[in-house]
Amino acid sequence: MSSEKEIAQKIQKLSRDLDQLNYHYYVLDQPIASDHEYDLKFRELQKLEKEHPKLKLKNSPTDRVGAPVLEKFIKHDHIAPMLSLGNAYNLEEFTEFDERIKRMLVLDSKDEIDYWCELKFDGLSISLTYDEGELKIASTRGDGVRGENVTQNIKTIRSIPLKLHGSANPKLMEVRGEVILSHSDFKKLNSQREKADEELFANPRNAAAGSLRQLDSSITASRPLTAFFYGLGAFELSKGMSKITTQEDLYKNLKNWGFKTTEHSKLCKGVKGVEKFYQKILEARETLPFDIDGIVVKVNSIALQEELGFVARAPRSMIAFKYPSRQETSVVNDITIQVGRTGALTPVALLEPVQVGGVTVARVTLHNPQEIARKDIRIGDTVVVQRAGDVIPEIVKVIVENRPKNSTPYLFPKKCPSCGEKTLQEEDEAVPRCINDKCDAQVKEGIAHFASKDAMDITGLGYKIVEFLVDEKLIENVADLYVLKKEELLKLEGFKEKSVMNLLNSIEESKTRTLSRLIFGLGIRHVGETLAKTLAARFESLSELAESSEEKLLEIHEIGEEVAKSIAQWFSKSAHHKLVEQLYKNGVRPGKNQKAKGTKLLNLNIVVTGTLSKLSRNQAHELIEANGGVVGSSVTKKTSYLVVGEDAGSKLKKAEDLGVKILSEEAFLELVS
Ligand code: IVH
Repeated sequence: MSSEKEIAQKIQKLSRDLDQLNYHYYVLDQPIASDHEYDLKFRELQKLEKEHPKLKLKNSPTDRVGAPVLEKFIKHDHIAPMLSLGNAYNLEEFTEFDERIKRMLVLDSKDEIDYWCELKFDGLSISLTYDEGELKIASTRGDGVRGENVTQNIKTIRSIPLKLHGSANPKLMEVRGEVILSHSDFKKLNSQREKADEELFANPRNAAAGSLRQLDSSITASRPLTAFFYGLGAFELSKGMSKITTQEDLYKNLKNWGFKTTEHSKLCKGVKGVEKFYQKILEARETLPFDIDGIVVKVNSIALQEELGFVARAPRSMIAFKYPSRQETSVVNDITIQVGRTGALTPVALLEPVQVGGVTVARVTLHNPQEIARKDIRIGDTVVVQRAGDVIPEIVKVIVENRPKNSTPYLFPKKCPSCGEKTLQEEDEAVPRCINDKCDAQVKEGIAHFASKDAMDITGLGYKIVEFLVDEKLIENVADLYVLKKEELLKLEGFKEKSVMNLLNSIEESKTRTLSRLIFGLGIRHVGETLAKTLAARFESLSELAESSEEKLLEIHEIGEEVAKSIAQWFSKSAHHKLVEQLYKNGVRPGKNQKAKGTKLLNLNIVVTGTLSKLSRNQAHELIEANGGVVGSSVTKKTSYLVVGEDAGSKLKKAEDLGVKILSEEAFLELVS
C-alpha cells in the first residue's frame, strides 16, 4: 500500500510528464512519446485522481477532455481591455503610419524605427488570465471590455499551457492570442460533417469560432484547435523578474512560458524592412497551413509604445498591414463540363472575372455533380469566391437573395458533352465518366498529357496543337506522333518551316526519355509520377510491364489492389497492346532512369508529409532519389524515415504507432548535406 504522500508524488509526476508530452507534441511539433505511452499515463492519472480526489492538482492535464455541460456562458470582464488595430491596405498607407509615428516621437524623417513584424492570424481572439502561473480564466474578446468565459473549452486545446513553464512567473498576467484551425483539420472536419449530414463551416475561422463556443466542452475537445500568442493585457511582475522592454523580448518570454508563437516573426528596420517582410510572408501565405489576413507591425520598444499611446480603441504604435482579401463575389456566367484524359466529367463554373487575393479568377472547378447540388449552384447565381489555403479557387456559397427569379437548378448532362455517348458513375466514384475510349476529348487530353513537361516533355505540343492535329486527322494516338511527316505539317494553316522543324525535333528527342516518363505519359489511372518511377525501377521495359499480371504487380510494396487492377486492365485492352508495339516500332526507346549519384540514403524508404518550409514536396522527393533512397507514398513497417513538415496529419500518427523514425525538415537536410 502506498502512503498518501507517495500517491501525491505519483500524481505530481504523472501530471508533469503529461504536460511535457503535450508541450512537445502540440507546441514544438516534436513528439517524444507514442500515443500509446501517453494514453497509459493519462489513464493512470485519471484512475489515481478518481480514487484520491483530494490529491488532484489544480489544472490537471486530465481536465483537458472536457467538463460538465454548461447552460450558458458567464460574462467575463477583462482587466485590461482588448483593443483593436488600425489597418493599412497598401505601402502608401503603411508609410503614412510610419511618418505619423516619427512626427509624434519628434524624429527625423530619415530615421528608421525598429518594428517587430508578425503574422496576423485569421482566427478568434482570446485572453487567458494566469494567476501565479496557473491558468485561471479564458475569455473571448466580446466587445473588448467584456467577453465570455470559455475556460472549460480553452483547457481542451492542448497547445495551451495550463501552468506556465519556468520559474519566472508573473504574479498576474493576461495573455492575448488567437485560436485557429488549420486548413487540413478544417477540411477533415467539414468532410466528417458532410458525412453526418451536418451544415458545413464556410471557412476555418468560422469553424474555430463554432468549436470554441460550445456549451459542451467535450465537443471542443474533439476539434483539433490550436492557438498562437502575441500580446499582453494586464501584467504584474513578480519579485526578481526583469521587465519586458521590447516586443521581441515579449516573444522570447511567451515561448519560455510554453506558448506557441509564430516562427514567422522578425525585427525589421523602417519601411523598407517591413516591406520586405510583407512580401516574403505574402509568398509564404500560399503554403502556410492556416489562414492569415495580413501582418501586424508593432513598434518594438515598449517604452515608445507607451509614449505613443492610443487613439480611439487602438494603439498608435501598431498596425495591421493587410493582404488583399481572398473572398470576393462574382456571377456564374455558365457551367461547362470538362472531359479529362481518363474520361472524368468535371464541371467548371465560368465566372465574371474577379480579382481574388491578387489573382484574376474566371474559372472555378465545381468538382462533381454532388458538389453542385449540395451548394445548389446555378447559372446566373451571385457567388462568394475564395482562394484559401491552397491556391485553387473555390465557390464558398451562393448569395441566394441575389438569385434571378426564373432560375432553375443545374442539370448535370447525362451524355458526354464531347462525343455524345452515355456516361457511367460507379458507386464509389465522385464523378461520372465517359466510357468511350475513342471519345475525342479523352484522346486529345491523353495526347497532351503524354507531351506535357512532366511526361515526355515535347516542347511546342500543347493542347491547341494536339487538338488541331487530331481534327486534321494526322494523329489518332501518341504513337502516331512519331511518324508525322514534315510535308504533311507544312500543308497545315499557320505551320511554318521553322516551327515544324522545332516540333519534329522535340518529338524525335522525346524517343529516348526515361521509362518512368513514358509510363507516366500513358495516362493510366492511378499511375502518377512517383508510381511511374517505382514501376520503371522494377521493369526493364514497357512490354515487360505490359505482360505483368495483377498478382505480380501486387508484390510491389507501393501498389495496392485498386492500382494493380487499373494497370493490368489498361494493358489488357487490345488497343493499348497495339499502342505499346506501335511506339516501339516507331522508334521509342526509353532510357534507363538515371541512377542515383549519392548513396547517403541508399535503399532507405522515405516518406514525406506535411508542408515543408524550405523544400517543395517534389524537391524533397528528388533529393531522396538523388541520394539513393526510395520515395514511399504511405507509412508502413518498411518505412525507414518519415520526414515531417508543418501540419502533418495521419501519417505522423501512423509512424509513431509503428515506431518509424521521424525527421524534421532540418534533420533531413542535414542527413543529405
Ligand atoms: S495585436 C491592441 N497581433 O487582430 C490590439 N493582433 O484587428 C492588439 N490579431 O483583435 C492586437 N493576429 O484578434 C495582434 N499578431 C497579432 C494578431 C492580432 C491577429 C487579431 C486580434 C485583434 C485583431 C485586430
